[in-house]
Amino acid sequence: MEGKLMRAVQYDRYGGGAAALKNVVVPIPTPCKGEVLLKLEATALNPIDWKIQKGMLRPFLPTKFPHVPATDVAGEVVKVGAEVINFKLGDKVIAALTGGGGLAEYAVAKTDLTIHRPPQVSAVEGASFPVAGLTAHGALTQSVGLKLDGTGARKNILITAASGGVGQFAVQLAKLGNAHVTATCGSRNMDLVRSLGADEVLDYETLEGAALRSPSGKKYDAVIHCASPVPWSVFEPNLSTDGKVVDLSPGASAMWTFVVKKLTLSKKQLVMFINSPKAENLQFLVELVKQGKLKTVIDSTFSLSGAGAAWTKSIDGHATGKIIVEP
Ligand SMILES: NC(=O)c1ccc[n+]([C@@H]2O[C@H](COP(=O)([O-])OP(=O)(O)OC[C@H]3O[C@@H](n4cnc5c(N)ncnc54)[C@H](OP(=O)(O)O)[C@@H]3O)[C@@H](O)[C@H]2O)c1
Repeated sequence: MEGKLMRAVQYDRYGGGAAALKNVVVPIPTPCKGEVLLKLEATALNPIDWKIQKGMLRPFLPTKFPHVPATDVAGEVVKVGAEVINFKLGDKVIAALTGGGGLAEYAVAKTDLTIHRPPQVSAVEGASFPVAGLTAHGALTQSVGLKLDGTGARKNILITAASGGVGQFAVQLAKLGNAHVTATCGSRNMDLVRSLGADEVLDYETLEGAALRSPSGKKYDAVIHCASPVPWSVFEPNLSTDGKVVDLSPGASAMWTFVVKKLTLSKKQLVMFINSPKAENLQFLVELVKQGKLKTVIDSTFSLSGAGAAWTKSIDGHATGKIIVEP
């Protein structure tokens, strides 16, 4: 691969949306110690990809320009770096890339964030997990304390934007954890979200839905908040005595609520969750797929040269499930 070229999509400054993405030809990267080079089969987009482009994580990401975005990939190992013992050429894998690189024909992955992909899990399904699946998993297990084998106390959980990339997994995992799930989504996706296991579904464009009120009058022990910001005054009356809102995209108002609730020792809390990918949790999700307990809703699939259209679709915020680019 040394000196060979590949197609990639990159941007060279903050801002500009899809129009700033350029189709380029660049050298195939070389894997270093503890890394593998993958020929990519599928890459999933996440809102964080275009938020990074917008400069919302400045000055941390991207670390340099030009930047090839996207982190969630499935592919085949075509080269191994030094000291790699658990992967060999030809292995099919799923990886969480640490510094982007997913919108390309090839990408380098760290082996500690790479797992084998069994034949029962497609490349598209596998690429859907690193951000969306692991965020749903982490928010439910770490922030809410839900036991996904269903052995814990039964909780009432609200999942907002249940038709989105994260929400679809959160509904299914919460049901595995024996929770009663209320979910919000648009009217066109209510049947889909019910089919994922939600016990009650609210159309977010109705008054009841905007108020996040459970149709059966349940108070929520936890909210996995995947939708755009909602004032605390909307959450508060719907929470149980020690109910907790887990906010995945906290704005300034949510951060202020977090501080106030802490300082006043409030039993009702708002906490933030930031995904930190771990191979063992990725493996857990893959096992669930193998057992037929977890499925992936795919919104749409694009070619690498059509990545701009995929980018625009993600920015629009109306995908049902995951947006995939197949290099
Ligand atoms: N903290 C973290 O580590 C972390 C990790 C992953 C994601 N996130 C964040 O979590 C959020 C969700 O991510 P995602 O990948 O699931 O997004 P997504 O796939 O883009 O979500 C799109 C879905 O949201 C639905 N939706 C939009 N507004 C809604 C509302 N007010 N109520 C109910 N549903 C609504 C849309 O339905 P319609 O088409 O019907 O409008 C669509 O199906 C994003 O802000 C993302 O940045 C954070």
